[in-house]
Amino acid sequence: MSKERVLTGIRPTGFLHLGNYFGATRNFLQMQQAYDCYVFVADWHSLTTHPDTKELQNSVRRVVAENIACGLNPDEITLYVQSDVPEISELYLYLNMLAYKGELEKTTTFKEKVRQHPDNVNAGLLTYPVLQAADILIHRAGKVPVGKDQEQHLEMARNFAQRFNFRYGGGEEILPEPQAFNYSGGELIKILSLDGNGKMSKSENAMNTIYLCDEADLLRKKIMKAKTDQGPAEPYSQKPDYIENLFTLMKLVSSHDTVAKFEADYNNSSTGNVVIRYGDMKKQLAEDMVNFLQPIREKTNELLNNPEALGKVMQAGKDKARASAAETIRMVREAVGVKYY
Ligand code: TRP
Repeated sequence: MSKERVLTGIRPTGFLHLGNYFGATRNFLQMQQAYDCYVFVADWHSLTTHPDTKELQNSVRRVVAENIACGLNPDEITLYVQSDVPEISELYLYLNMLAYKGELEKTTTFKEKVRQHPDNVNAGLLTYPVLQAADILIHRAGKVPVGKDQEQHLEMARNFAQRFNFRYGGGEEILPEPQAFNYSGGELIKILSLDGNGKMSKSENAMNTIYLCDEADLLRKKIMKAKTDQGPAEPYSQKPDYIENLFTLMKLVSSHDTVAKFEADYNNSSTGNVVIRYGDMKKQLAEDMVNFLQPIREKTNELLNNPEALGKVMQAGKDKARASAAETIRMVREAVGVKYY
């Protein structure tokens, strides 16, 4: 029996952080064997906001390198860059004829971008969900692991597929409707920013975000500066979220015994009798984090320092992706009727 096809796109925003890793990347690693996985870097999507293209180039290479360093296996899955597959742009063109201005303007992400960049409301931004639909439908992928923020785009992809099949398929399912997918193999772990202010993200202060490729000394510095307090007032107090976050991180990178020791210290602490030493806890966490991230950083740098090897991986991914895309485009052209001889 052939494996089900799962597809996901990663925006090349440069430098993955722990929030990305434990919230998404690690889950995907667990899907590699069970599914026929397609993972690509959405560089065309990035162009909608007019980034510095030199920087974009570096980001694309970095995101490929970091994902491989995290354990994504290009021999096992299809890992490629969106712009290496021109068939996607052709499908995007056909789907654009089936996407209505009104529905595109109503898309939440579009409205958000219009608010953020009123001076750059370009057509590419408006049709972002159409391109995303083409990304998915070009490989006839059945499943797309998405976060909440992407559910609307996925619903639009289903609508476009349905319209395509209705208009051109004569009842035949040429483009299967993709389903949102919550992979049950792993739970999604939410990592907070080190100051406890919201999710760990790339946009805020870099000192509150742990990047997978941070050097050891920087990691130590960031973790030692993480927000703590005077300690709990009563035994078995509920942990404030910034303290809970340190425990979450510790559970992910430290030994079971280490976590158990600090849990016990926390639970035995109260005003006037604070047993837990947050300084010691952070020191331990920092060392364990350094050890956890070291192989990822080294592998990433190794790949980035060897553009030829990285290029070969990208070329191989491109060939695999194009083979699958060409098959869909052949069916699509035939269905639309753009075939004259
Ligand atoms: N829009 C997605 C994001 O912002 C990235 C993306 C582009 C994507 N094409 C996709 C995700 C196709 C899943 C499937 O993260």
